[in-house]
Amino acid sequence: MTTRLTIRRPDDWHLHLRDGAVLRAVLPETARDFARAIVMPNLVPPVVTAKDAAAYRDRIVAALPEGAEFTPMMTLYLTEATDPADVAAAFADGLIHAVKLYPAGATTNSASGVRDLANVRPVLEKMAQIGLTLCIHGEVTDPEVDIFDREAAFIDRVLAPLRNDLPELPVTLEHVTTADGVAFVSEAPGRIAGTITTHHLMITRNHLLVGGIRPHYYCLPVAKRSRHRDALRAAATSGNPRFFLGTDSAPHVDALKETACGCAGCFTATVTMSCLAHVFEEEDALDRLEGFASLHGPAHYGLEPNDATITLEKRADPVTYPAKIETGDGPVTVFDPGVPLHWEVTA
Ligand code: DOR
Ligand code: ZN
Repeated sequence: MTTRLTIRRPDDWHLHLRDGAVLRAVLPETARDFARAIVMPNLVPPVVTAKDAAAYRDRIVAALPEGAEFTPMMTLYLTEATDPADVAAAFADGLIHAVKLYPAGATTNSASGVRDLANVRPVLEKMAQIGLTLCIHGEVTDPEVDIFDREAAFIDRVLAPLRNDLPELPVTLEHVTTADGVAFVSEAPGRIAGTITTHHLMITRNHLLVGGIRPHYYCLPVAKRSRHRDALRAAATSGNPRFFLGTDSAPHVDALKETACGCAGCFTATVTMSCLAHVFEEEDALDRLEGFASLHGPAHYGLEPNDATITLEKRADPVTYPAKIETGDGPVTVFDPGVPLHWEVTA
């Protein structure tokens, strides 16, 4: 039985760091295990221009703990007013690694997102031309579509037509939550990949709703039935380089989660590597953890994997983690997978 595993240092290809007091509190949780992360731009106001991204990057770097070795990879928030030349210059400068598409109204701070892809066509064409990745929150916002069907509907109505229309545009379908998403990413031609979160590998909608409503399991896209979680586990542990880790670790203080209209987001940064080792061991695929967490992501983004390594060890007794991270704005609850975790990062 394997009880010790050394892998290249992982990266997180979808992360929310926020700003101010929350940024200062959550950043060390990611920087501890991860070398790099694609940082989401859905601040209030959003990170729209190259100038916004440079300023946000500087705030993140200033918030890093002494001695931390962590590089934030910035993104721009796509709006219907985004200037293709600004995007291209930010990419040429090495400032940004992706542009994020939020359908307007789909999730947290998405009000400035895109209502109609036709309105951002010049930006997408430019991105296709220069090889800049579009990261996609893949859910329709049509009020007629059931929330559990919004990812599948997005693939049919938006993503499939977009791939046909602009096959050269590199795409990351983020936080895939359905068997439909797995199938699409597996089969579509061209440069396309899917990120999978920590929590969607572990929970189903039952965790959210059985025995009482559990706001800390509420995220978007919402967790689906177990058939879909099983498809995600199969994809993550398959070795297919189109699938890699994007935690979507999304901190909200407890006051904004434990309320009549709670925010979407699971804060998983602290426990992600422990959870992943647990899942990959359950799937008898520990030898594929490195691909999922450390190799496939850099390959999709045209980067080298990290030279440094981390070591995970399996303990006889469960490993404990803090239930909450304190921030200057209040506590943030750490994701509880609901099963004992025995793996921990030791070096
Ligand atoms: O659960 C989520 N939280 N999904 C998102 O798409 C946004 C994120 C956030 O920013 O809190
Ligand atoms: Zn997200």
